Amino acid sequence: MQRHSLFATMSLGLFAGAATTTALAESTPLEEQLKELESFQVIAHRGASGHAPESTMAAYELAHEWGVDYLELDAQLTADGELVVFHDDAIDRTSDGEGKINDFTLEELKALDTGTWFNVANADKSDDSFEGAKILTLDELFERFGHDARYYIETKSPQLNPGLEEALVETLEEYEMVENGHVLVQSFEQDSLLKVQALNDDIPLIQLVWYSPSEEDASRLVEWTGVTPGPEEITDEDFQAVSDYAVGMGTNFIYDGREVIDADFIRQANENGLPVHVYTINETDEMERLMEMGANGLFTNYPDRLIELVE
Ligand code: G3P
Ligand code: CA
Repeated sequence: MQRHSLFATMSLGLFAGAATTTALAESTPLEEQLKELESFQVIAHRGASGHAPESTMAAYELAHEWGVDYLELDAQLTADGELVVFHDDAIDRTSDGEGKINDFTLEELKALDTGTWFNVANADKSDDSFEGAKILTLDELFERFGHDARYYIETKSPQLNPGLEEALVETLEEYEMVENGHVLVQSFEQDSLLKVQALNDDIPLIQLVWYSPSEEDASRLVEWTGVTPGPEEITDEDFQAVSDYAVGMGTNFIYDGREVIDADFIRQANENGLPVHVYTINETDEMERLMEMGANGLFTNYPDRLIELVE
């Protein structure tokens, strides 16, 4: 039911204009990609990062092999302006180095081992081949999978990565990812998304949100950057304000054991033309519950579990 209302809204919102002018014209790859957002999307969070070290080629190889809809990644800039695939602001947790990622050149980062930590933390999934895994550049990921994959790219920590949007758009254009329908750009920072849009307004954008209790009044939920009101207070106009520039939303589901969104939130977003992708869902029962609630896609470290449910 909820997905049906999304179909109606999105079909009208995204394709009605084109249909009246070129009734029989074939869809472009970008239009096809947007149309496919009407279906449930399996999004491999940092690759199949429950099975292999996050953001490494091994994690992306596995997710790609399993046929996920999107490879999710966080893009950041090195000290010498190279785009790398890395989540944290610091390299400490997932490498054998220490310090802020932006303080290192690509050559220095390439000397790190970003795989062994996974073997130590996950004895049951340890694999000798993960040892010595190198930090990935976005170029390397694109060269490996090219147009044979779709990429769900986050502009991570935009304040710490000045120039990130420019570098990202340049790379997306170089690899002809946008017009061929291979990329979504996501961010928690609305300004970062608007910067991307100003550079290339064809790039489909996803507004990330993170809902948690207000510090002043824990009974009220608020959004981290204030991009929307909390889910209990959000209106059609608030969703429309997002759909003015974005093609979807990515949200958390649980904060400190408390569910922060419900089926009504998803339905209302859908009615305003916004599919809702929920992060980061790793347990099968939670996946099933969100699918029942009408979620339009899930970010997961275990795409194998989700694919089993979807098929
Ligand atoms: O991008 C969706 C989700 O990945 C956001 O959280 O911290 O894992 O980047 P994070
Ligand atoms: Ca992310």
